[in-house]
This record gives sequence, structure tokens and C-alpha cells, in this order.
Amino acid sequence: MRVLEPDELRAAHALFGAALHAGGPADDERWAVARTSYDPGRTFGVDQPEGTLAGTATSFGSALTVPGGAQVPMAAVTRVGVRADRTRRGLLTALMREQLQDAADRGEVAATLRASEARIYGRFGYGVASRGRNVRVTAGARFRVDAPPGGDVRLVGVDEAATVLPPLYARILDGATRPGPITRPDGWWASTLRRPAPDTARGIAVHTGPDGDDGFASWTVRQEGSDFGENVLDVADLHAATPQAVAGLWRFLLGIDLLRHVAAHLRPLDEPLDLFLEDPRACRTTGIGDETWLRLLDVPAALAARAWGDTGGEPVRIRVHDPLFPANDGVHVVGAGGPDTRGSTGTSEAEPAAGGRADLECDVAGLAMAYLSDRRPAELVASGWWTAHDRAAVARADRLFAAGEAPWCGTFF
Ligand SMILES: CC(C)(COP(=O)(O)OP(=O)(O)OC[C@H]1O[C@@H](n2cnc3c(N)ncnc32)[C@H](O)[C@@H]1OP(=O)(O)O)[C@@H](O)C(=O)NCCC(=O)NCCS
Repeated sequence: MRVLEPDELRAAHALFGAALHAGGPADDERWAVARTSYDPGRTFGVDQPEGTLAGTATSFGSALTVPGGAQVPMAAVTRVGVRADRTRRGLLTALMREQLQDAADRGEVAATLRASEARIYGRFGYGVASRGRNVRVTAGARFRVDAPPGGDVRLVGVDEAATVLPPLYARILDGATRPGPITRPDGWWASTLRRPAPDTARGIAVHTGPDGDDGFASWTVRQEGSDFGENVLDVADLHAATPQAVAGLWRFLLGIDLLRHVAAHLRPLDEPLDLFLEDPRACRTTGIGDETWLRLLDVPAALAARAWGDTGGEPVRIRVHDPLFPANDGVHVVGAGGPDTRGSTGTSEAEPAAGGRADLECDVAGLAMAYLSDRRPAELVASGWWTAHDRAAVARADRLFAAGEAPWCGTFF
């Protein structure tokens, strides 16, 4: 297990691509783009005895928006793969341990990832912390007269997008009240915007409202039937600063000619797309899926960073189990004003040192599921993810963890 050198990253990239059945190794053009998204010193590899790579995992530094709008340093974990002939002998486990410790040593409060399969990461303390809705909307669907009219939308090319979108996204993020979005480093933008896709019809548009550019969308179009015009537009990225800009971008996309449907993957659960439309059934939910998998690395810092709901003065004592990071493992006392560090700590379940009796109990993955407010503590107790030692504390914890808008990240990595 070691940190890979820059000249080994291409092999790691190929290993990951093969593990994901994502085609052969990148040619020079694709690699020139992909390499920009590797953060130096953050790619781990496991060697086979004969010296070739058997497994790899990487991450880049980012920041996660938590309830209340603060951002905490975060490792964005990606490109995790083990060679098919070396799986199920503990390589991923070793990679994850090393990577999580490395991120914690860097002062990162959390790690997040997108999971190819839902059974892989829970054992390492990751829990689903945001979910998204897949939608398929009939192209040309009419908007209600009361729906926000939106502003002007202009198409931009990749070069203009590379200049306009990163600062626009950063401005949108600065004003974000929704928990879950992350900062996008330059390498993310470069590798996403410049990814060669020669045969794919792509588009990028910027929305302008009363205060200037305030939203953008990018997409690809594919033919779905055999007849001319039987096309589906797949939204790849859509972020906006205001509900008006969200409506304006959807109006634009649904008004593009020669489309049957506009589809989007993992949109916010509370995006009011159906509410914009005269016929709300023109917007069909085709699925709801997990988006952000969150691993809290520094629970006290994470609890201190987010805003909390009103509990009527009485805090909630939560016993958190974390076999990897002892500083997280104990009782955390949290009230509307945040964690009470005097009351927290103590690793004995029966007699927490200073925190008194625990009201609720969960593991660190269960805490992650409530942290951004995706799941209410009551749901987690009802499903066995959390244990309630004091039933009255459940409703209090629901109010404590509530955050208004549904958490959503909207950045794929
Ligand atoms: C997922 C992957 C990285 C796992 O690597 P691995 O080295 O086999 O994992 P480990 O041997 O450390 O497994 C640890 C545990 O997780 C379980 N596990 C690992 N992958 C699993 C999967 N896909 N489904 C269910 N359980 C899985 C193992 O059975 C093992 O459990 P056990 O200790 O009870 O036996 C590897 O199978 C892979 O590369 N898959 C294809 C690419 C991919 O999906 N990457 C993830 C991208 S997000």
C-alpha cells in the first residue's frame, strides 16, 4: 500500500476503468484530460507481488456545505477499483483505512463518494446522506401561467463555459442554503468540460436574471427511437441561484426542438419541476437513488459546523460508535446552539464519562444519514439504524436535525 507517483497514475486510471467495465485504457487525448483531475499525492495503490497494481483509490480536496451554509473540508473519494482477479481478499479494506486516515490527517472533516453498489461502503462508516430523483419530462410540456417566467438563456461553447461556469458555480454555492453541495476544484472542471466525446451531441447554456448570470445547464442528446426526432435530452449538470433561474433553465430545455423527452438523473428531491407544469404528470419520477455517501471523520468538528434546530432548550445526547476514529466514539451532547463539548465524550456505553445517559445511539454511518438532514432520527429509529433509550428524545432529535431544503450535492465525481 503506497501513495502512487505521478507517472503511475495512468496505470491506476486504467485499472479503475477496467474494474468499472468502462472501456479500455485512455488514449493520449483522454488521458491528457483525465490526469488534470488527479490531486497530487492523493492516489493510493496496492501492488501485487510481481510489482503491477492490484487496486487503487483516489480523492481530491473539496469542501462540503452543511446545514446553515458553512463549509467543511472534505475528501471527494473516487476511482476506487480492485483488479477482478484480486477481489475479496481485503484490498479495498486496506485502501479505505489508509485513505480515511490520510484525509483525517489532512484535517478533512468528512469524506464523500458516489457508490457503484450500495453494499460496498457502509462497513467503512459511510452512510447515504443525500438522495436524488430521476425524472423524465415530456418535451414541450407547457408551464402554468403562474410559474416563474425565468430570464434569458444563451448557448455557450466549451471555451466560454470554461471561463464563465467555474466562477458562476462558486457564486451559486456561496449563496446556497441547501445542504450538500461541494466546491469544484479546477481539475474537476477541466476534466468534466474537456472530456472528449466526439460522437455525442452536447450543449451548455447560461441563464441570466435581473442580477446577471445566475444559472447554467449542460446536457447530451441521444436518439431513442428509429424515427427522426425521437431524441432524449439528458441533463448532465444544472445549478441555479434562484427558483426563477431553475424554472428558466427547465423552460429552455423543455422548449428545445426535436425532442421527445428531457431526462435528468439525481435531481433534488424537492425540485418543484412538476409544480411548474400545467400537466404535472408530464414529469414522471423514474426512480429515487442514493447520491452522497458521507463518512464523518471528525464528528465533533462536523457537529460544531452545522446549524441546529430548536429543541426547546433540552439537548440530545447521542452515543456514536466509530471503530476507526476513537475521538468520534463516545457521547455527543447537541442542542440548538451546537455541541456542548463539556458534556460530550466517554466511551463506555453504560457510563459515559461526562455526558450523562445517552438518549439515542447509532454508529457513525447512521449519524451521517441524519447529518445533512436526509433522514429524520425518527425514521432511523423506526428502521433500526438508531436505538432510542428515551422515546421523548426522538421528536427532539427530529427538530434538532431538521434543515429545511432537502440535501443535494449535484456534482458527480
Ligand atoms: C468494490 C471493490 C473495490 C471491492 O474490492 P475488494 O478488494 O474485493 O474488497 P474487500 O476484499 O476489501 O472486501 C471487503 C468486504 O466487502 C465485501 N464487498 C466488497 N465488494 C462488495 C460488493 N461489490 N458487494 C458486496 N460486498 C462487497 C466483501 O465481501 C468483504 O466482506 P467480508 O469481509 O465480509 O468478506 C471491487 O470489487 C471492485 O473493484 N469492483 C468494481 C469497481 C467498483 O465497483 N468500484 C467502486 C467504485 S465506487
